[in-house]
Amino acid sequence: MTTILEFMSVDHDRLDNIFSELLALGAGDGERAQALFGDFRSGLERHIVWEEDLLFPIFERATGMRDAGPTAVMRMEHRQIREILEQIDQTLRAENPTAIGQPANALLEVLGSHNQKEEHILYPAIDNVTDEQERQQAIDQMSETAS
Ligand SMILES: [Fe+2]
Ligand SMILES: [Fe+2]
Repeated sequence: MTTILEFMSVDHDRLDNIFSELLALGAGDGERAQALFGDFRSGLERHIVWEEDLLFPIFERATGMRDAGPTAVMRMEHRQIREILEQIDQTLRAENPTAIGQPANALLEVLGSHNQKEEHILYPAIDNVTDEQERQQAIDQMSETAS
């Protein structure tokens, strides 16, 4: 049996690995940097859509917590994450991979604690309020839209 925690943690790790690969590139790797960032951004945006459209509503329906509570905080952090993704994108288009240090650090900081909170609080809570069939249904839906 796969849990939401397992499924989503694997995706966090997969995205972290792509981002690390991007940060390890040198100044001459502009094209590779744009390709890796494209994979990272589309993967992270898809991950956020899974959370906001599918997983968070499960928690919100079960607990009645919507406008205040952990999912409201996560949705706010998603907006910050999207803004930083746009900054990195613009930097990569204009310059080279070694120039993304500042927004990349900002992203690592926000995303690191964000993912920890999801893995320690929110995903286990979603696993707790669902039965095996509901979890499997959510995982199937997410897998269908995975590349
Ligand atoms: Fe998230
Ligand atoms: Fe997440």
